[in-house]
Amino acid sequence: MTHAIGVDVGGTGIKASVVDTATGELLEMRRRLDTPKPATPAAVRDTIAELVNGFGVSAPVGIALPAIVRHGVALSAANIDPSWVGVSLPELLDDALPGPAAYLNDADAAGLAETEYGAGRGQQGLVLTITLGTGIGAAMVYDGTLIPNAEFGHLELDGAVAESTTSARAREITGLDWEPWAAKVSRYLKHLERLVSPDLFLLGGGVSRTPEPWFHLIDVDTPVRLATLINNAGIIGSAYAATVAQADPIALSGS
Ligand code: BGC
Repeated sequence: MTHAIGVDVGGTGIKASVVDTATGELLEMRRRLDTPKPATPAAVRDTIAELVNGFGVSAPVGIALPAIVRHGVALSAANIDPSWVGVSLPELLDDALPGPAAYLNDADAAGLAETEYGAGRGQQGLVLTITLGTGIGAAMVYDGTLIPNAEFGHLELDGAVAESTTSARAREITGLDWEPWAAKVSRYLKHLERLVSPDLFLLGGGVSRTPEPWFHLIDVDTPVRLATLINNAGIIGSAYAATVAQADPIALSGS
């Protein structure tokens, strides 16, 4: 059986599990530790090491971060500590992990998970996964191949950075009702439609766990589905990325 450890680094929690990468199923109960405060690279490294070594298995490790990750270097830090920018992730983390590692953006991990095992499985063409959470994450997967680091949450729309008005957190902060929020999400997705002409949108993030008040209000021309892996997508997708990276290092060289 092929298995890998997946780690999802978020603003409030760091979650990990061992994943069967043939099926995408979790082989262990998901473990979670609070994200250290401040979430400096060294503090986060120690938390990740505690989590992954706690499983007592030797396996490839995939780590998903809320940052642009290019050739193993974190290049942004929108919702994490600014000191991550410029950090070489292999230098920071490789020695602390129980196996060879792959590093990627958290939305990219979610998009890989959904297209490999979830709501986008078997879909041809361009699948655009959008995660609505603290920020807005985006993943472009074309015929199963990830085009990494699509930072579409930072597009400017109606004079503002899209995620600052349209993320799930933005809705909570402003106390917006579901209906006007769904209209904002639809407007944002229509903008993306014009820019990249996707074949399918997958909507994920924590808000996809409770779709009843909003999902039926989403109004775009492109087919839209709810992501199905919800809170585990980052873990599953990063574990998958670790497996792919071991099989074919070139496949993830851009992430
Ligand atoms: C970051 C992305 C990340 C997304 C979801 C955005 O603010 O720029 O890199 O994928 O939040 O965490």
